[in-house]
Amino acid sequence: MMQDLTDLILSRIRDVADYPKPGIVFKDITPLLGDHEVFSAVVEALADGLRVDKIVGIEARGFILAAPVALRAGAGFVPVRKKGKLPAATLETSYDLEYGSAVIEVHADAFAPGDRVLIVDDVLATGGTAEATVELVGRAGAEVVGVSVLMELAFLKGRERLGQTGLRALVVV
Ligand code: PRP
Repeated sequence: MMQDLTDLILSRIRDVADYPKPGIVFKDITPLLGDHEVFSAVVEALADGLRVDKIVGIEARGFILAAPVALRAGAGFVPVRKKGKLPAATLETSYDLEYGSAVIEVHADAFAPGDRVLIVDDVLATGGTAEATVELVGRAGAEVVGVSVLMELAFLKGRERLGQTGLRALVVV
């Protein structure tokens, strides 16, 4: 069953060469999202057995997966957004990109103290975004029980940046 799902997922992720920059091979999940059977199976797999209070989705592609997982798991949904997009009081953190840095935010009142939270995103690459999100959500008063992604790019070793925080990837390439 899981091998079937792995093959289905891989068959619906398209490699796009030289996007967004020369030398980068972009993993395009839009074919997967457009296939009801595979998208549904991915949401089921990510939500399977979850007992959490909130699912955090990371802008922007993480939202697409995290929101249906939250509904399926009977949990609330919390967006972590790039700086300047959330309207109320926020907590923020910055992290390094290949060139420069990025800032992400979450609403300061997004969690009740001790909320159990799963972070969901589409891809774990260098792990910088996920690592920053774990730190931010922890600072906001929640307990991060793990990070789940559709795809882990293992050659970038992002898993190592998550330390003690458990990482689950439906496919590893
Ligand atoms: C992508 C992806 C992850 C992050 C992974 O998002 O959706 O959030 O990069 O990279 P990392 O592990 O090296 O941090 P991106 O910043 O491209 O934003 P988008 O979803 O808005 O396109």
